[in-house]
Amino acid sequence: MTEIITFGNFKGGVGKTTNATQVAYELSKRNNKTLLMDLDPQANATNILLKTKANVDGELGHFKASLMSAVEQENLELSIINIQSNLDLMGSAPDFALFPRFMEQKFEKYVDRVQYLSTLIKPVAEKYDYVIIDIPPTISLITDAALYASDWCLVIMQTQQQSLDGAIGFIDYMQNDIVDKYHAPNLDVIGILAVLITPRAPVDQMTLSKASDYFGEKNILSTTIHNMARIKRYGITGITTNDQYDKKVFAVYKKITDEILERIGH
Ligand SMILES: Nc1ncnc2c1ncn2[C@@H]1O[C@H](COP(=O)(O)OP(=O)(O)OP(=O)(O)O)[C@@H](O)[C@H]1O
Ligand SMILES: [Mg+2]
Repeated sequence: MTEIITFGNFKGGVGKTTNATQVAYELSKRNNKTLLMDLDPQANATNILLKTKANVDGELGHFKASLMSAVEQENLELSIINIQSNLDLMGSAPDFALFPRFMEQKFEKYVDRVQYLSTLIKPVAEKYDYVIIDIPPTISLITDAALYASDWCLVIMQTQQQSLDGAIGFIDYMQNDIVDKYHAPNLDVIGILAVLITPRAPVDQMTLSKASDYFGEKNILSTTIHNMARIKRYGITGITTNDQYDKKVFAVYKKITDEILERIGH
């Protein structure tokens, strides 16, 4: 059975894309057939994985169609390419920002627009063990449609007040809008992943303990992600596997992935 997992928070720049790509990469390394779906018109995950592909096989990826065009042709396969063994990418591009407008022309009722994307995702997702979705940081039809299609959401929270507020708003929104209003069939929260922590920084510890009070300690993943220069560099170089700094990053994501799989019952 396929598990579809969205990495979310309404706050921008909190590490959604970084963590989505690293976890997808780790899942594929474990011989799970994995698809990273980039639904963000900023296409950050697409860029990281295209550079990763170049590191792996020296080749540039070539999409048959942009994601927006694949949606128009009702065939998401057209925007999927292989990155490395067991890891595929459904690439995004700036024109995907037109998705809401396209859907407005297709359906009158907002709930129909929310539900439609999942009918395109389903036949594609079936071919994978895990589908990881990266979403934009704004409330929009794109995030609504991604969450509607998901089995799970992992909430990414930077250890600062705005990101905690973003996480709280995001979880309320999932319950009130995506589940109650649009009737998402499966959506459930895996938990909250705390990232970019500077060890022993008082503000970070304070935000973490506030989050723990608010959500309950068991809802926060016990592995946290520190600020690591190598992770930032992957935005420029793609994921690399050369040295001890890469190994340190992989060791962290092994733990995170173990915890995610345990929480979703795998
Ligand atoms: N653990 C980390 N250590 C160092 N840098 C990090 C870490 N996690 C993320 N970053 C950096 O922080 C920046 C924002 O991360 P990222 O793009 O993943 O956030 P995002 O939530 O997807 O942003 P957006 O909301 O714009 O989509 C990037 O430059 C990324 O490389
Ligand atoms: Mg992003």
